[in-house]
Amino acid sequence: GKSGYPHYMLKEIHEQPESLRQTLHGRVDALAGAVELEDFPPGTFEDVRQVQFVAMGTSYHAGLYAASMLTERGVPAHAYMAGEYADCPPPVDGRTLVVSVTQSGETADTLNAVKRARSGGARTLALTNVVGSSITRQCDDALFIRAGPEIGVAATKTFSSQVAALALLAERVASDVSGVASAGARDLLDALSELPGDVQRILDSDDARDVAEALYGCDAYFFIGRGPAYSVALEGALKMKEISYEHAEGFAASELKHGPLALVTSETPVFGVLTGDDETKAVNNLMEVQARGAPVILVARGRHTEAASFADYVLEVPETHPEVAGILANVQLQLVAYHAADLLGRPIDKPRNLAKSVTVE
Ligand code: M6R
Repeated sequence: GKSGYPHYMLKEIHEQPESLRQTLHGRVDALAGAVELEDFPPGTFEDVRQVQFVAMGTSYHAGLYAASMLTERGVPAHAYMAGEYADCPPPVDGRTLVVSVTQSGETADTLNAVKRARSGGARTLALTNVVGSSITRQCDDALFIRAGPEIGVAATKTFSSQVAALALLAERVASDVSGVASAGARDLLDALSELPGDVQRILDSDDARDVAEALYGCDAYFFIGRGPAYSVALEGALKMKEISYEHAEGFAASELKHGPLALVTSETPVFGVLTGDDETKAVNNLMEVQARGAPVILVARGRHTEAASFADYVLEVPETHPEVAGILANVQLQLVAYHAADLLGRPIDKPRNLAKSVTVE
């Protein structure tokens, strides 16, 4: 049941401290500053020369996040929408690792992308929540996110667990490829160990509900970010449109001036997701949208930053590693979407026209 929550989605959002503990359990050796992935001991990926992520929807956003983590560590990586990948498969060889990210393990587009990758000779790994799912039978290996069953159509706790598991995988792949643990490995692992508690701190605050109350019913909602925060912007927009039926779009912050800025008015709140350390560019973007009258919501570590002075609302993320901050920023956006949908009276757990798993192309 819903354990007293009005919707499965809210229950699953609140389960995240525990689901993340399960995802990370036994996989981080904090003392040694090392990743311990049961089936993937050090050296497993030493021959890998590039990584391709294939996935759809929320899982695609997790793949994008992971691609930016690997790129940051010097490993060529790219995330593809699985449907596009199957239609126009990029070149692969035996040194290509194709990681299929799929909560259910039953998404037709993702299964087909893996089929294409296999026929090209790539090595395949499934990152999934469901033991015994179709994807685990089609891939050479599987890594389970252990988030527990997710009933709400909107993916919430599984996104957080996907990104946490992918962060561990990215560290393992990058250290295997280069032969040394990345310089920042220990900081990342420390931040992941703190993640369940940090999520709880967000769940204990009412800030996201206050923002939803102040801003629901506008013309459209825009979400912008850079690097891993760009994938969070896309995910924040998907969650908003999926359950509230409000028009929402995520953009790379760098793209803003190349078109989307034409849409910005006083009726289009803009969520700026800022998880990195360099505020300069973000400050410019926020100034630009604020000058058009848009309500600005900054989602960032700390409320006393320079960027915060260009925001009407701040959704705070506890101080942490920049690559972990995106997971926390996303929790804030899950809550905004949930409360907006609730205020609009939407059927949150079963949005119109959507199914929990999409088994046709
Ligand atoms: O089971 P999968 O992770 O493969 O599902 C992929 C998408 O269908 C899924 O993430 C969808 O976008 C969610 N409803 C988003 O909340």
